Amino acid sequence: MLNKIKLWKNQSQSSTLRERIEDIKKLPVPRHVAIIMDGNGRWAKKRALPRIAGHHAGMKVVRKTTKLANELGIEALTLYAFSTENWKRPKNEVEYLMKLPEEFLGTFLPELIEENVQVKMIGYKEQLPSHTLRAIEKAMEDTKNNDGMILNFALNYGSRAEILDAVKRVLNDCQEGIIDMNELNEDSFSSYLMTSELEDPDLLIRTSGEIRLSNFMLWQLAYTEFWFTEVLWPDFAEDHLIKAIEVFQKRQRRFGGV
Ligand code: IPE
Ligand code: IPE
Ligand code: MG
Repeated sequence: MLNKIKLWKNQSQSSTLRERIEDIKKLPVPRHVAIIMDGNGRWAKKRALPRIAGHHAGMKVVRKTTKLANELGIEALTLYAFSTENWKRPKNEVEYLMKLPEEFLGTFLPELIEENVQVKMIGYKEQLPSHTLRAIEKAMEDTKNNDGMILNFALNYGSRAEILDAVKRVLNDCQEGIIDMNELNEDSFSSYLMTSELEDPDLLIRTSGEIRLSNFMLWQLAYTEFWFTEVLWPDFAEDHLIKAIEVFQKRQRRFGGV
């Protein structure tokens, strides 16, 4: 009897989720969603586990979130996985974080290929350990002919460094006569950023209750809608992404107009 009740409950819950998914799809979904996946360490601490256990749990959520985003018809999903400031963390934690792309892609790359996802990356490749870079580059290579959702990992990414590098390259191109400074505009400047092939995010999600950007996409988020939640990243579920999109669909974006 108890089992029967449980089953009925699960079915009714999942059908509600299904209905919400179908409802979302009737309205325009955000084309590019960016997520600051935060709170892995606190999730582990609450369970008296080492911080890396939180990162491991967070990886599974990346998979679920990717699947759902793809199903919803989101065109690009950018996930902030490691910032240029995260090197300050203890050595063992950094080492573990640098192993995660291999672990994640080692398990899920066939699934991503199957689901027509294109893997991409923004961030500084030079400082990444070779094993980390190899895993990401293999995934990019193996999915380069896919034309479905872009799964864009921000890995060793920092927005101020990105902007500064863009300025330097612009100056250099001006000096070399490749571009004319007077013709530089917001669009052409954007093409010097690491996100040159992506639209600006429509929706930014940050988990774990922190209300800050932590050096993430400062230029690109100028008119993005923000959605913050107290939920820690390893606890982030389908329901939360659906909620964020439902809220997004109710917002009125004005871009400075009326
Ligand atoms: C986010 O979780 C993952 C990374 C920054 C790599 P944290 O590790 O920052 O978790 P908290 O914020 O300490 O809980
Ligand atoms: C931002 O989270 C970076 C990532 C999620 C990868 P942090 O945990 O590093 O940010 P702060 O230090 O709380 O601002
Ligand atoms: Mg954090």
